Amino acid sequence: MKGVILAGGLGTRLRPLTNITNKHLLPVYDAPMIYYPIRTLVEAGIEDIMIVCGGNHAGEFLRLLGNGEEFGLKHLNYTYQKDEGGIAEALGLCEHFIDGESMVVFLADNIIETSIAEAVRGFEKQDYGARIILKEVDDPRDYGVVRFNENGEIAEIIEKPTDPPSNFAVIGVYLYDSMVFDIIRTLVPSKRGELEITDVNNAYLQRHRLRHSILKGWWADAGASIDAYYETIKIVAESVMSK
Ligand code: DAU
Repeated sequence: MKGVILAGGLGTRLRPLTNITNKHLLPVYDAPMIYYPIRTLVEAGIEDIMIVCGGNHAGEFLRLLGNGEEFGLKHLNYTYQKDEGGIAEALGLCEHFIDGESMVVFLADNIIETSIAEAVRGFEKQDYGARIILKEVDDPRDYGVVRFNENGEIAEIIEKPTDPPSNFAVIGVYLYDSMVFDIIRTLVPSKRGELEITDVNNAYLQRHRLRHSILKGWWADAGASIDAYYETIKIVAESVMSK
């Protein structure tokens, strides 16, 4: 199983903080934001990792992370996303790296409290398709949101709905087989001009190849807004100090 961390995009929602650096290099309590997804992947036993960088400060990733010695790694892979074409576009750049294997995809502004080892092992048994991870939240309107059918199965995922059909948000950690690249090639840009990861997940759903896990512990999307960034720092700080 390989790991992909998506750290492209311009981080416009966190301006002016992102005017002179990349969003994923901003501090979250005592570490740069991107440290958290790397640690979570390494903890789950995933050591072959590709980082997709973007924007005007991509060289800073290399300067900060090097070959990943700080995380016990011997090597890190990097690639560059030229524009802000969406999460699915960024993932599409990793096809040569994945080379037919399965993968965990981690949005670099997502931080979670608990291990993903169980979801990874579950996916290894599943052997094909995709697995998303859900978290119940008070207000899911900033996220992909699940609509369940009367049997409690996922019927649809809706990106940033104004009137959410449930409180279950899709967090930014996805497990895919290599069919994901065929799906990405079929996507068309959304209203916001991006190739949407929610369209990828709905494509797996239509093929009856989408499973899900429910996340234990807290989840933070540090990039959603300045307020979300601030809340993330508070949650991480409280969590570190309580240990
Ligand atoms: O945080 C979870 C949410 O992330 C999901 O619930 C949504 O379904 C999903 O679309 C996504 O929503 P956001 O609007 O929060 O995504 P955002 O544009 O903030 O991008 C998240 C990360 O993905 C970003 O920190 C870096 C990476 N990314 C994003 C874009 C647009 C790229 O690598 N390239 C890109 O072009």
